[in-house]
Amino acid sequence: MASSYSLVFLHVLVIFSLARIAFSDLSDDFYDDICPQALPTINRVVEDAIRQERRMGASLLRLHFHDCFVNLHGPTWEVELGRRDSTTASRTTADNDIPTPLMDLPALIDNFKKQGLDEEDLVALSGGHTLGFAQCSTFRNRIYDETNNIDSTFASQRQANCPRSGGDSNLASLDPTPALFDSKYFSNLVSKKGLLHSDQALFSGGETDELVKTYSTNLRTFSKDFSESMIKMGNIKPLTGNEGQIRVDCRKVN
Ligand code: HEM
Repeated sequence: MASSYSLVFLHVLVIFSLARIAFSDLSDDFYDDICPQALPTINRVVEDAIRQERRMGASLLRLHFHDCFVNLHGPTWEVELGRRDSTTASRTTADNDIPTPLMDLPALIDNFKKQGLDEEDLVALSGGHTLGFAQCSTFRNRIYDETNNIDSTFASQRQANCPRSGGDSNLASLDPTPALFDSKYFSNLVSKKGLLHSDQALFSGGETDELVKTYSTNLRTFSKDFSESMIKMGNIKPLTGNEGQIRVDCRKVN
């Protein structure tokens, strides 16, 4: 059930990320008349991709987040179809706008606020870490810092595959079930087993503790809030109508 949810979600995500036809305004039936085969075709391609490499789902979800925050080319989320590709891509903007795994709660809240997203969006969207993996270099500081809010058994387990030096790209899952869209990411935070410093920051005595607790026992509420926040995130400065372009090769500007 949980995994089929994530599959459907990912399909919707990719359907939009592959959208490349120009009209004004976003709508959920954008392709119904102009390209009725678009959605079934994309479903098939994504299913094949995930069959071959399960982590593809996590990669696509993360790509969506990064694209929305820095206005690169066009993936978006649910309902709103018809966005166009950007003609610019700035590494500096990306570096400045994307939150880092070392951030504390106030910095995360501030970062999301700059994009028009509130604390509830921050917690719900961070739940995207119910899927996928992170490299040792992104969580080393946390598992070796004894002043941190971290379960000691969990810290030693993670240290086994993430030495103090070297092994920078060794992977650990962001929650115990990295291929399932479930609420384990949040119950894990309540047990002080968040992998990234920025994950645990959401449950560290601050104002987001209560919501983390709610999501930790209520997948339905998390799923609903996650979808709503994904739509909100997908609506950050979209290009429509004659803005931007439709890329011939999605890796580069025409
Ligand atoms: C709140 C601020 C966030 C921070 C600081 C953050 C940071 C990170 C970091 C450091 C990684 C590991 C990257 C690596 O080691 O290569 C990661 C992975 C990931 N992030 Fe986030 N992230 C945040 C929010 C989000 C959001 C909003 C989403 C989507 C809704 C998301 C989805 C993912 C996914 C799915 C992965 C796993 C990718 C894979 O396995 O290939 N993250 N994130």
